[in-house]
Amino acid sequence: MTISSSLATVAYLAATILFILCLGGLSNQETSRRGNLYGIIGMAIAVLATIFGPHVTPAGYAYILGAMVVGAAIGLYAARIVQMTQMPELVALMHSLVGLAAVIVGFANFIDPVVAAQLTPAENAIHDIETYVGVLIGAVTFSGSLIAFGKLSAKIGGKPVLLPARHWINLLGLLVVIYFGYRFVAMHDFSAQIVALAVMTAIALLFGVHMVMAIGGADMPVVVSMLNSYSGWAAAATGFMLSNDLLIVVGALVGSSGAILSYIMCNAMNRNFISVIAGGFGTGEGKPAAAGGAAQPAGEVTPITAAETAEMLKDAKDVIIVPGYGMAVAQAQHTVYEITKALRERGVKVRFGIHPVAGRMPGHMNVLLAEAKVPYDIVFEMDELNEDFPGADVAMVIGANDIVNPAAQEDPTSPIAGMPVLEVWKAKHSVVMKRSMASGYAGVDNPLFYKDNNRMLFGDAKKMLDEVLVALKT
Ligand code: TAP
Repeated sequence: MTISSSLATVAYLAATILFILCLGGLSNQETSRRGNLYGIIGMAIAVLATIFGPHVTPAGYAYILGAMVVGAAIGLYAARIVQMTQMPELVALMHSLVGLAAVIVGFANFIDPVVAAQLTPAENAIHDIETYVGVLIGAVTFSGSLIAFGKLSAKIGGKPVLLPARHWINLLGLLVVIYFGYRFVAMHDFSAQIVALAVMTAIALLFGVHMVMAIGGADMPVVVSMLNSYSGWAAAATGFMLSNDLLIVVGALVGSSGAILSYIMCNAMNRNFISVIAGGFGTGEGKPAAAGGAAQPAGEVTPITAAETAEMLKDAKDVIIVPGYGMAVAQAQHTVYEITKALRERGVKVRFGIHPVAGRMPGHMNVLLAEAKVPYDIVFEMDELNEDFPGADVAMVIGANDIVNPAAQEDPTSPIAGMPVLEVWKAKHSVVMKRSMASGYAGVDNPLFYKDNNRMLFGDAKKMLDEVLVALKT
């Protein structure tokens, strides 16, 4: 069965509208489920319209079905075994596949003699530019995302690798890419063109590695969202190469929404977008951060027990909870909600403060709190709540570290200097729940731990919170 090209166009249009509705829905927690549903329906329509559209002959169905079965089996398996804490690295891996697809489609499209034979010389030049740019974006996305995967899964150290004269190296690479781009489009000799394409691909792969290896400190989130945007542009480039309008539109939607997210992340982290692309920011020029839990504690801390924490909470009228990556690791969100309920029943005002880069992926904490059914109206963004800490009796920090580090404001030489943080130390008391004195993702010590009004509740967040809950209820 093959549908007509006009029916396929109508289906693509419907899918595009559903994708836009999906993005709109995902921008708000309360509408995000509906947004996801729109996305699923849109994708189903898009896949069916493509398979049964005018560009696929029935002879191709078996190949497509085979590929879909293999892809779906791998996807289902990965989705079943992945832990919530591994989601960011899985996403990075998926971005790399989009980049790889753009590179493969680009080479295949260039090598395929049928494509070139159908085009006029002017169309051929445009086609060459599409191929060259598509492979370029795809290769940067592929290698950059693989390195991001390595860093997020701790297979590669978080420490930034800063080559001497790295900006000059980037500039030289860019000039070589432009030169070979000119040769690729201007020449009509297959072997010269394929050499130009291969050289550019190698440089783009190295650039992707170089760009992400140079990122350290707490700045990975910006790079992750930027690679998300790149993967969209890589998909759009693939759409141009395959003359598929839907892929162009969807790629542009992902690319532009990823760019907006990167911009929001840059604002949240007080970083300059261009510095991110050039690599090596947030580390102090040439002064690598001691990433990966390497910082040494520099002071005395006052421990507290779970029972004492419960007493402190019972006496409080206003409590602000700040969750971080450790809450995700411990899967403590449900106990957090039980404690919230118990406190609210006692008349205590409880609110949550969410840092934009808390955890390991955008919206990580919101997802966990929504899963535990914490009401949305007591969950606040950092900017909405930061001024309220001086009025709070207790700020309870659950497995968070970098996002509550006062060094970001107090120490201009810190790798996280300038990053806005939740000012928990301004509350009457703060309690930090974590297992040890180890540093967070950025690898810097946290002066919050040594403040007079701070107490450390050492242990796994879930176990400690279970004990706090029992003590609260007795
Ligand atoms: P972190 O600074 O990484 O601190 C998390 C803390 O949780 C650690 O110090 C750890 O201390 C503690 N912890 C781990 N497992 C625990 C458990 N089972 N129970 C109790 N505590 C536990 O996290 P954060 O404050 O959420 O900040 C996020 C960091 O990740 C930022 O630097 C951010 O830039 C970076 N990052 C974010 C993203 C996105 S998009 N959100 C992506 C990549 C990187 P112990 O080992 O002592 O327990």
